[in-house]
Amino acid sequence: MATIKIHGMIDPHTHLRDLDWSHKATFASETKAAIAGGYWAVFDMPNTSPSTIDAEKLDTKLAKINENAYCDWGLYFGASQADNTDQYKAIVQKVCGLKIYNNSTTGDLLIDNQEDRDTHYHEWSDERLIAVHAEDETVGDILELVRKYNRKTHFLHISTQLEIELLKQAKEEGLPVTVGVCPHHLFLTEDDLSTIGAYGHMKPELKTKADQQALWNAIESGIVDIIESDHAPHTIEEKESANPPYGVPGLETTLPLMLQAVKDGRLTLERATDMVSTNIQNIWNIDVPAETYTVVDTEASYTIERQNLHTKCGWSPFEGMTVSGKIIEVWIRGHQVYDGEQILSKRGFGNNLFGTTI
Ligand code: DOR
Ligand code: ZN
Repeated sequence: MATIKIHGMIDPHTHLRDLDWSHKATFASETKAAIAGGYWAVFDMPNTSPSTIDAEKLDTKLAKINENAYCDWGLYFGASQADNTDQYKAIVQKVCGLKIYNNSTTGDLLIDNQEDRDTHYHEWSDERLIAVHAEDETVGDILELVRKYNRKTHFLHISTQLEIELLKQAKEEGLPVTVGVCPHHLFLTEDDLSTIGAYGHMKPELKTKADQQALWNAIESGIVDIIESDHAPHTIEEKESANPPYGVPGLETTLPLMLQAVKDGRLTLERATDMVSTNIQNIWNIDVPAETYTVVDTEASYTIERQNLHTKCGWSPFEGMTVSGKIIEVWIRGHQVYDGEQILSKRGFGNNLFGTTI
């Protein structure tokens, strides 16, 4: 057996649901899935029901996740189209960042005019970064605001050649931008939709082989900073319905898929592990506590099957794929929380990585 140790794995892009959407997933179920996927911490997006757009809703969510999380965590605050910038001062230190939805997706958070986006950029604080959902030409619109306000901005789930080109130029210009890509855009394309159907529907959608290749090239050239899962569980019933919602789970498949890519010679082991740990810690300015690491058997090869997943939704768009790398131990702050089969931490063990909880 060949093992590697990765210190402080973080997934900074997850939708843990809970609250009014507990039927899809809960803070308890998905933080367990995170641990089984090797993660120390996960950051939860604000497009919940209700959306995390004022101090009171944030406090309710903080209290609930604090009681239920099995791993460490952070929460995003959401920019609202009904101007909620008056809330920013009270909440900024409790969250991992501000999320701005600039294109439509699950939930009702969408800022689609540049004037409103400008207001949010103006009013936010340099204490935390801004994470944006921006597709196609919208990436250029956001870059204008980054240039104007010089605010640290993370571009989530980048999926096309055009977006990579815009962000490459932005980095060359010296703008404070970082780039995340998701496994579903790296390992699936629009050609897979004929077999997986609604299980391959997410925002941004699956793209062409040329776009997929552009993402791999951008990993190689260093334009991509991190891998984020965009873990977005929906029930099987919802996915099989006439109007399937967008989103796929990914917490338990991200690391094994990336390690399979290492085995296939698509990137180095160091690059793969940096993109799920160190690079994320650096972007969010996080110090990893002592004895916080994941042990992976890099020789263990297996097939992704739904019955082995912990996520409450119970399916994966990657079912049937062979991956390398079995997570055999996870340690958080000196406590063993996973032994390769069982979650060993207790409900409520997880801490907020950003400021005081309430
Ligand atoms: O596919 C997606 N699902 N993309 C998003 O931006 C949101 C997410 C969700 O919450 O379901
Ligand atoms: Zn997302």
